Amino acid sequence: MKVAIIGGGGRVGSCAAFALQCSGIVKEIVILDANQATAEGEALDLLHGAAFCADQVITAGSYADCASADLICITAGLRRKPDESRLDLINRNVSLFNGILASLKGAGMKKDAIIFVVSNPVDILTQLAVEQLGLPANQVIGLGTALDTSRFCSLIASSLNLAPSQVRAMILGEHGDTMVPIWSSATVDGFPLLKFPGVTPMFQNQLFERTQKSGAEVISRKGGAGWAVGVAIREVIDTIALDGRRILPVSSLVKGAYGIRDICISVPTVVGRSGVISQVEVELWPKELQGLQASAKALKDTRAKIK
Ligand code: 2OP
Repeated sequence: MKVAIIGGGGRVGSCAAFALQCSGIVKEIVILDANQATAEGEALDLLHGAAFCADQVITAGSYADCASADLICITAGLRRKPDESRLDLINRNVSLFNGILASLKGAGMKKDAIIFVVSNPVDILTQLAVEQLGLPANQVIGLGTALDTSRFCSLIASSLNLAPSQVRAMILGEHGDTMVPIWSSATVDGFPLLKFPGVTPMFQNQLFERTQKSGAEVISRKGGAGWAVGVAIREVIDTIALDGRRILPVSSLVKGAYGIRDICISVPTVVGRSGVISQVEVELWPKELQGLQASAKALKDTRAKIK
């Protein structure tokens, strides 16, 4: 599978490219960036490690390369300031993002291309991509709360001294202030997490709050996320490349699940080579469902403010 990363010269895009090289699943990685020299530098730096990594084609390219890409990942955008919410970013990033969509349409895309949006506010920009690119909605996916879910599981594991790979606890809703922790189905190697020693209501509140603030916490210390978001991107792209049909918390156009309609938001989603295979309406606690619906309303209100 050929993957083009628009914004691949930036921190998020280059970390995603490195994660894709380390997993070695995709066949080709093309780095695009507004700064061509940076794109060439990142591609060269990755290529230099290929002999010890994977047999992939890694180059810097242009929108012309997107015409033959199987998956186009968009990470380009301005980063949040530490005290800025993702939705505050919206006006600064929407015009930039619309320009990228126009360039993609101008270059042409494969009719079965997958568009994978990472730029923030990711749910709103995923919605714009659905509206403007004219591709079937199942071929447009946003990273959504996949990064939040990784943070949530990793922080829970770290706090309870558990193996992170055995902790399964989803975050759903907006990748932003209204995200929702799904404790009702949280497990550790199949055992209910809520039955584990130390998992008190206070623990739950603390862990969710840390997860919600993780993005700002990283921004305040190093300017922005890179490694974890790169791994989250790789998790989705490799699932698509392998037709993995795995349930992932990614953002896509929801058409009725949980009473939500006509907005891009993260619900449990079966992801495969064709993008969104299905959205799984797993039973939630009443307060989780209310939180998810409130998150969808917040996103709809924001979408309505954009011309
Ligand atoms: C974050 O939460 C980049 O929005 C991403 O760090």
